Amino acid sequence: MPEPRRTQFRPLDPEFLEDPYPTYARLRDHHPVAWGSTPAIGYAGFWFVSRYVDVSAGLKDNRFGREITRVLPEEAFPPVPDEDRPLYAMLADWMLFKDPPTHARLRRIAAPVFSLRAVMAMRPRIEALIAAALAQIPREGPFDIVSDFSSPLSIDIVADLMGVPEEDHPLVRGWVREITLSLDLVRTPERIRAGSRRAGELVAYFATLADAHRQEPRDNLMSLLLSAHDEGGFLSREELLASCVLFLFAGHEASSLLIGNGLLALAQHPEEWRRLRLGEVGAKAAVTELLRYDSPQQIAFRHALCDVDFAGTAIRKGQTVGFGLAAANRDPRAFPDAERLDLDREETRHLAFGAGIHTCAGSSLAQLEAELVFGALAERFTDLKVVGHERQESILVRGLTRLVLDCG
Ligand code: HEM
Repeated sequence: MPEPRRTQFRPLDPEFLEDPYPTYARLRDHHPVAWGSTPAIGYAGFWFVSRYVDVSAGLKDNRFGREITRVLPEEAFPPVPDEDRPLYAMLADWMLFKDPPTHARLRRIAAPVFSLRAVMAMRPRIEALIAAALAQIPREGPFDIVSDFSSPLSIDIVADLMGVPEEDHPLVRGWVREITLSLDLVRTPERIRAGSRRAGELVAYFATLADAHRQEPRDNLMSLLLSAHDEGGFLSREELLASCVLFLFAGHEASSLLIGNGLLALAQHPEEWRRLRLGEVGAKAAVTELLRYDSPQQIAFRHALCDVDFAGTAIRKGQTVGFGLAAANRDPRAFPDAERLDLDREETRHLAFGAGIHTCAGSSLAQLEAELVFGALAERFTDLKVVGHERQESILVRGLTRLVLDCG
């Protein structure tokens, strides 16, 4: 065990936030399991794994899990203030934060919701929402593709599929934005408090919506979820509501970030944009490569459930490990010419949707949604001219809070 540990990686440095890829390359070559520290947010630090082969193996290794409470004593966790409880309660039943056997049960119940058949049935509705969102973009002059298109559209799509009526979409967008701010590792007590208030409101909203669907089942994800069950029984009420909220959160942010990251990458690679626009490369292949090239979720965090000797590093029970999905996706050991955007590259086994038991449950939906979006954008715009952009401050996800384009 290297003690004291030497920080090899500071994920909150501004240069890293703007462009993490040179750092990822250095870590892959010299410190494949590095120590990253984030003192600015009082987070002790974590191991960071950057090579494709290790990230892929680590995410499938059951010595790493999500439920830190299983391995550390209660005293290790600061007490949660009463006013913050709704936020933590909302997260407690997310399958994303569960280990087997609870994870397997929740995932099995949600399976019909994300089956290819269910996803294909959603296609006409998704197309209609994309067309409506595109119609809002001005024909002339600059516009912010994030606030004017990708962010509201991504929330509306999942909300709609969950049965939220159109007139409530703005309400749900507002809740989602405030809660999202409170969930990142970069978060202040004020953000957590505001997020907690909104979490209580959102869960209450879904409880009412679920009751309405129970009385009158409809053709959407909420009704599928309500009728889904495994041999052990139905979902508890808390688990049902937690799943609704998880789908909304897991479903919208990464999808929205992919649109911004993808458009920025295409604007910086006009030849690739031209190939997509002229149909020389299909939207499906383009989306696969854009997911690899600048992955919306950069890291998948786990905790060591026991002492683990991993890729030559002694990781102690209870320590946090960040598996670098985006670092792995640029690993030249796995992808020839990995730093190049190549919309029809042959090797496409990226890790942008994760790996192992927590692999994105909504990946088919996400892939379809993105294909339809990029297909529609390629039809609508000829030139992609970037006027300005702003980055989200996060170490978990990578994306833009603003991407101003002038495509007129
Ligand atoms: C571009 C879009 C998306 C990306 C890049 C993405 C990425 C990911 C990743 C990396 C994970 C694994 C996290 C981990 O292992 O810690 C994950 C999990 C998950 N995603 Fe997605 N996701 C996307 C869209 C969606 C959509 C549209 C939905 C559903 C509406 C969704 C639902 C989920 C769920 C439920 C999980 C938890 C799975 C589990 O714990 O077993 N995602 N996603």
